[in-house]
Amino acid sequence: MTIAAPQAAPVSAEAVTPGLTVGIPKEIFAGERRVAATPDTAKKLQKLGFTVLVETQAGAGASFTDSAYEAVGCQIMPDAASLWEAANMVLKVRSPQHHPDLGRHEATLIKPTTTLASFIWPAQNPDLLAQMAEQGGTVLAMDSVPRISRAQKLDALSSMANIGGYRAVIEAAHHFGRCFTGQITAAGKMPPAKVMVIGVGVAGLAAIGAAKSLGAIVKAFDTRLVVKEQVQSLGAEFLELHFDETEDGSGAGGYAKVMSPAFIAAEMALFAQQAKDVDIIITTALIPGKKAPLLITQEMVESMKPGSVVVDLAAEQGGNCEVTQPGEVISHNGVTIIGLTDLPSRMASQASQLYGNNLVHLLSDLGGAASFSVNMDDQVIRATTVIHNGQVTWPPPQVEAPAPAPSPQPTAAVTAAAPVVKPWYGQLLWPGILGLACVAIGLWAPASFISHLTVFVLASFLGWKVIWDVSPSLHTPLMSVTNAISGIIIIGGMLQISGDITSPMTILGAIALFLGTVNIAGGFMVSQRMLNMFHK
Ligand code: NAI
Repeated sequence: MTIAAPQAAPVSAEAVTPGLTVGIPKEIFAGERRVAATPDTAKKLQKLGFTVLVETQAGAGASFTDSAYEAVGCQIMPDAASLWEAANMVLKVRSPQHHPDLGRHEATLIKPTTTLASFIWPAQNPDLLAQMAEQGGTVLAMDSVPRISRAQKLDALSSMANIGGYRAVIEAAHHFGRCFTGQITAAGKMPPAKVMVIGVGVAGLAAIGAAKSLGAIVKAFDTRLVVKEQVQSLGAEFLELHFDETEDGSGAGGYAKVMSPAFIAAEMALFAQQAKDVDIIITTALIPGKKAPLLITQEMVESMKPGSVVVDLAAEQGGNCEVTQPGEVISHNGVTIIGLTDLPSRMASQASQLYGNNLVHLLSDLGGAASFSVNMDDQVIRATTVIHNGQVTWPPPQVEAPAPAPSPQPTAAVTAAAPVVKPWYGQLLWPGILGLACVAIGLWAPASFISHLTVFVLASFLGWKVIWDVSPSLHTPLMSVTNAISGIIIIGGMLQISGDITSPMTILGAIALFLGTVNIAGGFMVSQRMLNMFHK
């Protein structure tokens, strides 16, 4: 028996608190369970100064009840029309489409004052783009966030691909009739499953991590050789292609480039060989804006062992596998081919949380409620904005790579200028003073002072070199050395603390004791924090 969760009473559009409001409508795309804000991310939006309106039942598919949103201060709206009417900024997952309950297209709900942030796929949906532009508002496409370091926190494609890669392994495990991990039991021996991942981008890396953690033997292939170390660091084998041309598939912006037909043929020969050996193939190969390359032929599928599984993540872009049916799970010659295109939606709660966080970062970059503006001078906002005040601004202008700095040319003025020559006595001033000081100390200072001074000078020089000239990556081992030195300092300090509390010897000893203790305690605290980073 299921007990209906208590639902909050919806408010009307007129009853909404005035101010900059963010609206979260219920997704209407068939089977879509994600929502653009969870109660947790709605709270973060409120911290940015926004009033958050949520359409009733918007979070139901991801297990977030209306009362959970109300508990964090959101206002529940009775329907999509009142929500779009009251909100200045609308956050969605799927691009606008025909609303079955309202009997009109969601794009027609956009007002000139509305800013919409959603997945849009402008290249694939030019008609939708034109329809939305007619409404006069502003539209930000979450799929157009550039993949640059500064925009990583907004990168919804990556956060969804990460979940997609993980879920691909879970789906494969569900359809695979065996364990992933190898075991030797009283009842018999089970070999580990062999998984091959093609395309090691965000989804591929997540798939490798998930398959490894389930105990499978994982191999991976990518045209970009830079991912080899990442694959190996996850404990998987990187399959290398012994191809005559040394060709690396790295293209612009961290994405791949289109490979030559000869290369594709060579990699397909490799996959044909591997297909006979592996149990599961997960394909994620894609070059943005292009049809997915066909890499697994029907013949290769037929060469796989019965019970094997192929998960084709690129199904929506044409598929990497010849027999894939987008959105379907089919069986071909005893091999299960999974072409599901809604993998993140199958982990709706987690996916909504990550997507919601991406949107919180976007709204923070837009200035929050206090200084909200779509700044077209900001490279990330410019690339993401596909419609600005009714004008289609997609595609964004290509950001030119900064021109290499011109090699400095000697100018006439510089070459003509005579070098500034310091007088000889100026150059010798400081070495001279230092030399005289050394002679004076040697003549008049007591022998014990000279030996202490020698130790002091050498220690200062050593300390200087050890702290300044050591690369930061070596600071952890360095810390244990400094801890040992601090220990010696503490012993020295303790030996000096005796008798008269006002004597300079005692005071200096106490200071040395104190500083040495601070250094050792601090060293241990930092080491503990570093070790905590490796704890699961
Ligand atoms: P990505 O661009 O980060 O990775 C794609 C990888 O494929 C790149 O590393 C690239 O070098 C590699 N590649 C390109 N051509 C190749 C070739 N001929 N051979 C081998 N490798 C090649 O993309 P991301 O974010 O990892 O997404 C991967 C795919 O997963 C996309 O098609 C995406 O739409 C899809 N996806 C599907 C989901 C679903 O529900 N089915 C969910 C999330 C993502």
